[in-house]
Amino acid sequence: MSEAKVLVVYFSRTGTTRLLAQAVAKMLCADLEEICDRSNRAGVAGYLRSLVDIIRKRPVEIVPAGRDVATYNLVVIGTPVWASSVSAPVRSYLVENRARLPHVAFLCSFGGRGADKAMTEMRELAGKPAIAECKVTAAQARRGANAAVAVFVRVLKGHIARFQALEWMC
Ligand SMILES: Cc1cc2nc3c(=O)[nH]c(=O)nc-3n(C[C@H](O)[C@H](O)[C@H](O)COP(=O)(O)O)c2cc1C
Repeated sequence: MSEAKVLVVYFSRTGTTRLLAQAVAKMLCADLEEICDRSNRAGVAGYLRSLVDIIRKRPVEIVPAGRDVATYNLVVIGTPVWASSVSAPVRSYLVENRARLPHVAFLCSFGGRGADKAMTEMRELAGKPAIAECKVTAAQARRGANAAVAVFVRVLKGHIARFQALEWMC
């Protein structure tokens, strides 16, 4: 049976989603890639720019991905929630990679509301349902978010084992 290839890809403006993505990648022995965009999103001006980008659903330019999603069996996509939506750079990433995505799972960090709506949007942008979703508040993430991440990883490992038994049939 071949090894499962898993990629964890994420955008993070202030580091919270990065912490979660790093933990998931480590637990799954997955490759990790950060989505970088070309806007300065630091500080108040960066916050406001991010808000305008997402409210207008404005396409943003991202640095071309280094890893080809089509060479993986599973891609875990992490985003912060912006205005109850997926963040603008992850929106662009999903639009650009939609046609090549294998099985997907979603991970988000958020302040306290809007995560369900953001996950719905991710499913629509990816053009497929996720095999698992994980929503973690920034407060939980700062405390370690071990329980939520552990459950998410356990579910993913279960899927990986089942898919491997079927040799990743679609
Ligand atoms: C432009 C913008 C809009 C946001 N909108 C929401 C929101 O609608 N709901 C929410 O719970 N948190 C919202 N947040 C907070 C972030 O989702 C939260 O702080 C997240 O953990 C940040 O992740 P990061 O550090 O990986 O960027 C928003 C943050 C930004 C920058």
